[in-house]
Amino acid sequence: MRLPAGSLHLRAAEVLQGNWTGSSTVPSHGLYPHQWSWDSAFIAIGLRHLSPLRAQVELETLLDAQWGDGRIPHIVFNPSVPLDAYFPSPDFWRSSTAGDAAGAPRTVQTSGIVQPPVHALAAWLVHVSDPGLSRARSFLSRIYPRLAAWHRYLLHRRDLGGGGLASVVHPWEQGMDNAPSWDAPLSRVTPAPARSFRRADLDHGAAEDRPTDLDYGRYVRLATDYRDGGYADGTDSTAGFAVEDPAFNALLIASEHALARIARELGATGTARHARAERLTAALVDRLWDPAEGMFFCRDVRTDELIPERGVSGLVPLLLPALPRDTAATLVRTLRGPHFGLGDTTRLVPSYDLTGHAFDPHRYWRGPAWFNTNWLVERGLRLHGEHARARSLRSALLDTADTSGFAEYVDPYTGEACGALGFSWTAALTLDLLHEPSDTAHGSAYELSDATHGSAHELSDTAHGAREEFGMGAKGEDRR
Ligand code: SER
Repeated sequence: MRLPAGSLHLRAAEVLQGNWTGSSTVPSHGLYPHQWSWDSAFIAIGLRHLSPLRAQVELETLLDAQWGDGRIPHIVFNPSVPLDAYFPSPDFWRSSTAGDAAGAPRTVQTSGIVQPPVHALAAWLVHVSDPGLSRARSFLSRIYPRLAAWHRYLLHRRDLGGGGLASVVHPWEQGMDNAPSWDAPLSRVTPAPARSFRRADLDHGAAEDRPTDLDYGRYVRLATDYRDGGYADGTDSTAGFAVEDPAFNALLIASEHALARIARELGATGTARHARAERLTAALVDRLWDPAEGMFFCRDVRTDELIPERGVSGLVPLLLPALPRDTAATLVRTLRGPHFGLGDTTRLVPSYDLTGHAFDPHRYWRGPAWFNTNWLVERGLRLHGEHARARSLRSALLDTADTSGFAEYVDPYTGEACGALGFSWTAALTLDLLHEPSDTAHGSAYELSDATHGSAHELSDTAHGAREEFGMGAKGEDRR
């Protein structure tokens, strides 16, 4: 089957093919030349439409780098990439020596911090894309214990606030590095001197699209202190920086629901995990919901106060099935209101408040729209019955991914490309949206079986074509 020339599907597949290294996918060859944890989870969600086998391998490669204490490191370094291609490089993190007590792997070099736990959700979605292949390779039974250990690490070792939620100890852990929510807790951190490190990111990205040197000084200080403490978690970890973030915890809860489904597929009931996910949803509302502002905020564990900065992170809990109905309705109103302007002034959800003092439409997480957070909001809209709004967000995402050259992030008003081009999760989530069922009445967002419903039929020729074109084999044919 020939592909329609220049189809969006084909172009997205080409990005993923170009960024595949043989066992995982780089977010982008220049700016991010190793394997990143939450990138890989989003990438697997799109890759499953091209090759369910590759999607499984993507997650397995990441999980092979898991530490003994259960943490999944935010970067798994590729030893063939020169040390100066990315900062901080393996010699900064020193995982195999500094992370000894925490059980860092000996066979591979990693960072020592984590990223948002999207993995169980990704694993479940990869499984449902080809259950036959998944069962033949015992995919879920092999990874379930690792995913369970990962969640245990976050829920026990990282409950630094004592309220049941996980804390991040570095802005890189939450993934939205320079979000204005971090400004107040970061202001207490003494920056490492600029001469003590060299930023490699500025070799590949425009300085005005990236975090500032002052931000980097503080990132380096926090990471150095955590490393020098042997990557130990506990009360001392809150000394520098500890924040409960709504998106990080919402993704943990969504993944806990997914883990319940995985447990059920493996013959258990999954009931306890579903119940835990519901308790965590209640804790999220209790600790991070601000009813007057109509959204979730970060909690600074050190001061035990909410941080009053409106970021997209505070909208991501919309993807939770156990969210109270009025909370979900309020979040949708906030999404459409003056701070995020969706469907009014903006085409995609910005990463930060349009009216906020720190808003900058081009600077990383201080305003631009990102495809992963928009994909999460789109799922949330569908889950809560907002089908028309979900459809228009989906079509804006597909248009913008295409016109921006699969940019890392875009100006939320104009869609102008920022950061890296040919960015893997942008391409992957484009593929996932292309495969989305057109009849959204089918089940919850967690039960979608894209192989059997709705628009998957319209795309099946193209999808098969792309698999053949890239030698990835059709579903079920690329077993190993
Ligand atoms: N986002 C960080 C960077 O820009 C690392 O996780 O390198």
